[in-house]
Amino acid sequence: MNKIIKINDIPGSIVCQAGCVLETLDNALADHGLMMPLDLGAKGSCHIGGNIATNAGGLRLLRYGSLQANTLGLVAVKADGQVVDCMNTLKKDNTGYHLKHLFIGSEGTLGLVTEVAIQCPPKPQSVSLALLGVVDFDHALKTFRLARSMLSEILSSCELIDENCMQPVVNTLGVRNPLGEHPFYVLIEVSGSNAAHDEEKLNAFLESAMGEEIVADGTVTNEPSRMQTIWQLRERIAEALLRNGFVYKYDVSLPHDSFYQLIPVLQDKLKGTDAKIVSGYGHLGDGNLHLNICAPQFSPELLAKIEPFVFEWISERGGSISAEHGIGFKKTKFLRYSKSDAAIHTMRQIKQLMDPKGILNPYKVLPME
Ligand code: LAC
Ligand code: ZN
Repeated sequence: MNKIIKINDIPGSIVCQAGCVLETLDNALADHGLMMPLDLGAKGSCHIGGNIATNAGGLRLLRYGSLQANTLGLVAVKADGQVVDCMNTLKKDNTGYHLKHLFIGSEGTLGLVTEVAIQCPPKPQSVSLALLGVVDFDHALKTFRLARSMLSEILSSCELIDENCMQPVVNTLGVRNPLGEHPFYVLIEVSGSNAAHDEEKLNAFLESAMGEEIVADGTVTNEPSRMQTIWQLRERIAEALLRNGFVYKYDVSLPHDSFYQLIPVLQDKLKGTDAKIVSGYGHLGDGNLHLNICAPQFSPELLAKIEPFVFEWISERGGSISAEHGIGFKKTKFLRYSKSDAAIHTMRQIKQLMDPKGILNPYKVLPME
């Protein structure tokens, strides 16, 4: 199931089978001057069907939006074998219930996606990447705010790396950090259709960021191999942390004013335990923090200090306990921290309707009754 069925140059869309690898699709679209609206570290191996089933986010959601927003249509098979054809390649179609959304992000619990149509933006003609060092989280946030206002439509990514994430990538994996040591790093990518215009905007932004002392240090490049090295500093964090032992991983959404507060709170709470590194990185622009706690090995005592505390803390601040990685089977019992009783009840009713025998990806998403 890895066939590309059709690429439409105007207005820009692709129809393909669910087993296509994300990067293969992106490469095929490049010949048409188009690109996939999502990009993840796993692009070389992940399948578009899985991306849709999990509503995968990634590094450029800030610019292009979620798969929920970019999926034009799909075909899915229900538990009883009925093929639900919601295929559509038009941007606008307001004919009743948007059934495709039941499948996007359902983690395979409501049906099996077999074919998809995705809208595809034009592939940028020019891309530049800036890695900026800042003195604290407040300055990282100021950097994002300034980038949003000064770069606006060409801003394609805004990622955060704290020093506890940067160090293992540099020290364990040997990736070169072109800047000195800073408590936080902000990665800003711009992409557009006119290199001169984009460069002018980026330079004006960097001048303001430096002039107003929002940013302490920075480097900017449009050279592909240098951009790739800088991206590695961000994309290989999970791999680097894993080399340091067992990692308790959390993927949370928080309002920007409390985005990073959780890290010092946990550093304090976990003092005296065998938690070695409490670190955070992630999609600053989207308010999505990847919280990682590293310890030499797994311990139930440490886990009991982290959970459900982390989920309660997030829930109290109106955050989400799973910003982009979904619920799976590990977080079902915490779903209530992000969903009301009525919402969970309605989810159960939908599951009952779509899969009365509970044969589709059992034990996932919904908590045990
Ligand atoms: C990332 C994965 C962990 O952003 O979502 O690197
Ligand atoms: Zn992520």
